[in-house]
Amino acid sequence: MKRTAWGLALAFALVPRAVSAEADGRPSLRLPAPATSAYARGSREQVNARCVACHAGVARDHDGSLHAQAFVEPSFQKGYAIEPAAFCRSCHAPEHGPATEPDAFARSHGVACVTCHVPDANGTIVTGEGHDTGSNGPHAVKRIPNFGTRACTSCHEFAFPNSGSLGEKGLMQKTATEHATSTYGDRTCTTCHMPKSDSGRRSHRFTASRDATMLAAALHVKASREANGHLSFELSSLGVGHAFPTGDLFRRLVLRLKTARGVREQSFERSFRATRDPANGKTSRFEATDTRLAPSRRFELDVAAPEGGCSWELVYQRVTGVGQTPPFTADVEAETVLARGTL
Ligand code: HEC
Ligand code: HEC
Ligand code: HEC
Ligand code: HEC
Ligand code: HEC
Repeated sequence: MKRTAWGLALAFALVPRAVSAEADGRPSLRLPAPATSAYARGSREQVNARCVACHAGVARDHDGSLHAQAFVEPSFQKGYAIEPAAFCRSCHAPEHGPATEPDAFARSHGVACVTCHVPDANGTIVTGEGHDTGSNGPHAVKRIPNFGTRACTSCHEFAFPNSGSLGEKGLMQKTATEHATSTYGDRTCTTCHMPKSDSGRRSHRFTASRDATMLAAALHVKASREANGHLSFELSSLGVGHAFPTGDLFRRLVLRLKTARGVREQSFERSFRATRDPANGKTSRFEATDTRLAPSRRFELDVAAPEGGCSWELVYQRVTGVGQTPPFTADVEAETVLARGTL
């Protein structure tokens, strides 16, 4: 699919940021993180099997999640086939040392129970504030303050390889920074991503990019035809604790306008360039632009109205690669329509 960028005026509206009130020190235990070396594998598999045996409901939720599928999931496998690096394995198959191809357990369990709850070699089960049933169960747990965010950040924010001195511009994913500096910085990731059921239990499904209803509910679009004949689109996100889209760099929102004369598109995404890092002389990527929606950023697009009627749609896309020079063409892997209308 070929797409062309529009020359549209983008209006930014910045709202003051709420700073997270968190002030506790680092826990002495290791937090969930990408694997750096091999665990004693056999025992990890056995411990994980015990968690699953007693927590069958949680295990069912987790089985259907992208965490459990982090290594076998087809979009990951497509990227991994091009770049089968230890770097990728450290997060997508964290139950195996990154140096070699994962074993059957690490492949099939992805980010496993033990990855998040038993990150320390000493076997302590760690968790967050917990629920209100008053029971800790037959095993001890260590409660880590703000676990609902700290359990996530070291996998959900990381730099391109060789981008040491580029700071935030060198980040491949930056969900933690987006979250910490957003108006939602005082809510843990789990407030939104592990909603509590009626019984007060937290879900382990971690649905997001594959959930059309969740995505559509997170987008606000106001489309109108102005007195001057122009079309006006006002876009903002609703209840998203970071940029929308966040995470993987191959995600974007596209506003598509269809008229009798053809299709025009405007995308909201990050774009990247290659650069040589002065600190190590190696080539890396850095972020050149970021036009995604954010809790504190909305867009007003003013478009000269095409002749005749037109229809528009706002779509969420997962793409498999983005050209690094205009017109930034990309292969679309999946697309979900979040809103549409006619003007
Ligand atoms: C991606 C990280 C992650 C993975 C993977 C994960 N958990 Fe959790 N789990 C959490 C977090 C975070 C909480 C919420 C802690 C809190 O209450 O703040 C939690 C809560 C729980 C709870 C308490 C739930 C409740 O509300 O009653 C149990 C039990 C549990 N996990 C077991 C498991 C088991 C078993 C697995 C594997 C099948 C698993 N977890 C996989 C992060 C994870
Ligand atoms: C022999 C059964 C059994 C095994 C094995 C087991 N659990 Fe539990 N666990 C329980 C029970 C029972 C509770 C208390 C009821 C509940 O919260 O689900 C509990 C509670 C928890 C909680 C919630 C604590 C709280 O109050 O917030 C977490 C988290 C948890 N288990 C994680 C794990 C993990 C991770 C493993 C594997 C390393 C594991 N459990 C192994 C039975 C077990
Ligand atoms: C060990 C690394 C690791 C940890 C820890 C971790 N994640 Fe993830 N998470 C991943 C990977 C890898 C994926 C993507 C899997 C895939 O689709 O290939 C993922 C996927 C997700 C998704 C689904 C994204 C989508 O595209 O739909 C959500 C939501 C998510 N994580 C939230 C969290 C939250 C919240 C926490 C903390 C409680 C957490 N994660 C902890 C590695 C991790
Ligand atoms: C205030 C609620 C809220 C908080 C807090 C929040 N998220 Fe989200 N998140 C959402 C919503 C809503 C979506 C779906 C819209 C979207 O894709 O951005 C989402 C989507 C995602 C996705 C899917 C990627 C994508 O954009 O398709 C990932 C990964 C994710 N969140 C991780 C996190 C992590 C990690 C944290 C904490 C650092 C966090 N979120 C905090 C609400 C929240
Ligand atoms: C530091 C941890 C980390 C490393 C290293 C990492 N990833 Fe990921 N990856 C993630 C997380 C977290 C997500 C989920 C974010 C989201 O869904 O937007 C993800 C998502 C993805 C996705 C989207 C999957 C989907 O289900 O849509 C692809 C593809 C991917 N990664 C490929 C790779 C490849 C290839 C490498 C190695 C070159 C790699 N990743 C290295 C953490 C990592």
